[in-house]
Amino acid sequence: MAEENILSEKEITEIREIYSHFPLKSAACIEGLKVVQKYHRWVSDKALKELAAILEMSPDAVDSVATYYSLIFRKPVGRHVILVCNSMSCWIMGYEEILAFLKGKLGIEYGETTPDDRFTLLAIPCLGTCDHAPALIIDEDLHRDLTPNKLEEILKKYE
Ligand code: FES
Repeated sequence: MAEENILSEKEITEIREIYSHFPLKSAACIEGLKVVQKYHRWVSDKALKELAAILEMSPDAVDSVATYYSLIFRKPVGRHVILVCNSMSCWIMGYEEILAFLKGKLGIEYGETTPDDRFTLLAIPCLGTCDHAPALIIDEDLHRDLTPNKLEEILKKYE
């Protein structure tokens, strides 16, 4: 029996629509990865291979694009991904306190997901909002001028 495809017709159509705007199919790689991630939360090996076939690229080439971008996830993640800025300004302005709060509150380390699948905790370099450090992103939302108390309230919004 043939193995079922990971990518749906809807995803494939979306990817084809994107690469129709690029001179080369391979130039749409990162956008294709984003489509896969939008539907699956992360990019599995199987999904990556299917995308590579659509873009007429080798799976290794697609994988190197995927691993270059910190916002493409090659391992399963929770419903919400917390990306904590670990660059200089945030370090100076309270990064360690924020990280300790998150680790304690969620009971996980960097690279881990809470047992209820609610949050994944990851680090990210400077978010470009150093004058409002410490900062982090949850999914696509930027949160700045953080304190543990403020973060406690913010986390409640992400079920
Ligand atoms: S160092 Fe964290 S936003 Fe720039």
